[in-house]
Amino acid sequence: MDEYADRMLVTSALPYANGPIHIGHLAGAYLPADLYCRYQRLRARDVVYVCGSDEFGVAIVVRALREGTTPQAIVDRFHPLIRDSFAAFGMSFDHYGRTSGPVHRETSQDFFRRLAGNEVFVLKTDEQLYDATAGVFLADRFVKGICPECGYKDAYGDQCERCGTSLSPAELLSPRSTLSDAVPEVRTTTHWYLPLGDWQKRLQEYVASHSEWKPNVLGQIGAWFTSGLRDRAITRDVPWGVPVPADVAKAAQVSARGKVIYVWFDAPIGYISATREWAQAQGDPSLWERYWKDPASKLLHFIGKDNIVFHTLMFPAMLMGHGDFVVPHNVPANEFLTIEGRKLSTSRGWAVWLHEYLETFPPDYLRYALAATLPESKDADFSWKEFQLRVNSELADILGNFVNRALTFAKKEFSGVVPPLVSPSDRDRDILSRLADFPGRIAVAYERFRFREAVALTMDVARLGNKYFNDSQPWKTRRTDRLACGNAIHVSLQLCAALSVLTDPVLPFTAKKLRTMLRLEGIRSSMPGAQPAGLIGWDGAGAPLLAEGHVLGPRAILFTKVDDAVIDAQVERLTRQGEEQGKAPALPFAESKAMIDYEAFARLDLRMGIVLSAERVRKSRKLICLQVDLGFEERQILAGVAQHFDPAVLTGRRVVVVANLQPRKMMGMESRGMLLMAEDRDGRLALVTADSEAGAVVR
Ligand code: MF3
Ligand code: ZN
Repeated sequence: MDEYADRMLVTSALPYANGPIHIGHLAGAYLPADLYCRYQRLRARDVVYVCGSDEFGVAIVVRALREGTTPQAIVDRFHPLIRDSFAAFGMSFDHYGRTSGPVHRETSQDFFRRLAGNEVFVLKTDEQLYDATAGVFLADRFVKGICPECGYKDAYGDQCERCGTSLSPAELLSPRSTLSDAVPEVRTTTHWYLPLGDWQKRLQEYVASHSEWKPNVLGQIGAWFTSGLRDRAITRDVPWGVPVPADVAKAAQVSARGKVIYVWFDAPIGYISATREWAQAQGDPSLWERYWKDPASKLLHFIGKDNIVFHTLMFPAMLMGHGDFVVPHNVPANEFLTIEGRKLSTSRGWAVWLHEYLETFPPDYLRYALAATLPESKDADFSWKEFQLRVNSELADILGNFVNRALTFAKKEFSGVVPPLVSPSDRDRDILSRLADFPGRIAVAYERFRFREAVALTMDVARLGNKYFNDSQPWKTRRTDRLACGNAIHVSLQLCAALSVLTDPVLPFTAKKLRTMLRLEGIRSSMPGAQPAGLIGWDGAGAPLLAEGHVLGPRAILFTKVDDAVIDAQVERLTRQGEEQGKAPALPFAESKAMIDYEAFARLDLRMGIVLSAERVRKSRKLICLQVDLGFEERQILAGVAQHFDPAVLTGRRVVVVANLQPRKMMGMESRGMLLMAEDRDGRLALVTADSEAGAVVR
């Protein structure tokens, strides 16, 4: 199999829009795909990366019923939350769609119609569980019971969450309705089925032609083949989903009333819908066909291991049955992530949520820590201590430190100008030639979906830099041998420049910062979109990128170390979350205060401010010292939030300041004002903010 594809469509599993994203999702289907796509874009490959919210399915209906609202309201709440936290984390989708929209409805109905026309489906009328109290057929997660495989007592009608076996409601022992807890009765209903058994031979041939797939993926598929593929119902009697096309139902003489397409049938078609929406946004509505219909295009699905069967068997059968489309070229599924040694569980509150993480830390820290421990071939663990270690002793001590040494030295000794390379020593030449090999070596790891290795190799460039810097001792040669000193700095700066490209997939925000510090221009972006020809990308990153005499930019700190207190607070939050979810109902809201008159309120001088800088106050566990631009003046403000925010994420934020609060001294420093925060019942803090200029009056 050829490893290198020139044109590809990459997808990450569409997340269900019934809850926020946690780091288990990220480690499975999202971060690896983003690393891969950013790398491919740096290589100037033609890649389109799509994702979107999976908005149908019974879980969403169940949640809506529980909350006394509609499924649409649920997905309207979570779709933007998920979309925005992905964006803040740096997920570089070309398009992020949603399956409740009109394009998807049309695309999946057309797909269904085509398969019906090709006589791919079979119709079956049989008995199904029916909840007479709620008046619905009990498909999938509407029904619970004892797993026939492992005896787990809360297995769902589609899958046992303990042993992973996929089930049908009829297989459950002692079934109960999840809607009413009623014991269901049996009624007849007609559904469309995908006769996967008929496809087994073709699917086996297809999988056999992909011996390069990951062993964990092939292993799971092998087990499915051994037990034999069965027919799968691909319609449901539930009130939420893409309706079965009326014309198809009519031709089959089945009432289409209340019948929808099964979520696992429509969801992968969501990849096609998202590509179509992307093409429309490009002003070229048929552009999506280049990626789905031309056999030269490679289709790649990044998913977690629970989605393997759908992407390697069911969706390929659907695509083959359709006839116009390419089939998945690879499905690099990951195993699961545990947290602090325990299985991740959203219902038990054992999860680290992306949007909460982002309140405290910059995205690159987690991108790096996760990428370095991805569950690529077996389950892997995330722990906050290891996160801290990765940030402090790898990002800060290795990468940050090397860049800082090179740039500080260049500034002090060479006025921030790249010195020339004159008669380089063996050591200089050796480093430059080793650097030249790195892009190719790291590329091999990316192409093989070995992201941990890619990240480790990338960090080796910085390690090499530190060692080289130590060995060359420019702080000595600065007096004794100016040329050698200049060479050492020249070479170190070339390593920094290469790092600003090579780290870009995993640390996109940092890489950009680094390029600004180097004033390095003409480098490709790893983000979607057309780019001018002639930019330097991955393949050029091993050659010297900085010319002698090039003037460097302003220096900045790339990484701030994460303190124990901040980590302890995260562990504590996780534990508390786990305990709360288990039993205690939500804490009561804070008590209301006594009435005040308008005059009392009007005496407050509330202003918008922009945080110019933020740093921890030394020897204080709680305090952060902020410099805040209030438009008319700059203020120093101390805030007791060090256990809630990393200073790095505060910089640049818009805040509301109580500007006429009497100055106060804390730890010997003066604080002139106070930031407004919202504190929730769990004691979590969020900044109060508005999109207005510094100095604007808040009233
Ligand atoms: N929503 C599913 C899940 O979270 C994944 C859907 S992937 C798709 O498990 F292919 F169907 F889109
Ligand atoms: Zn089981």
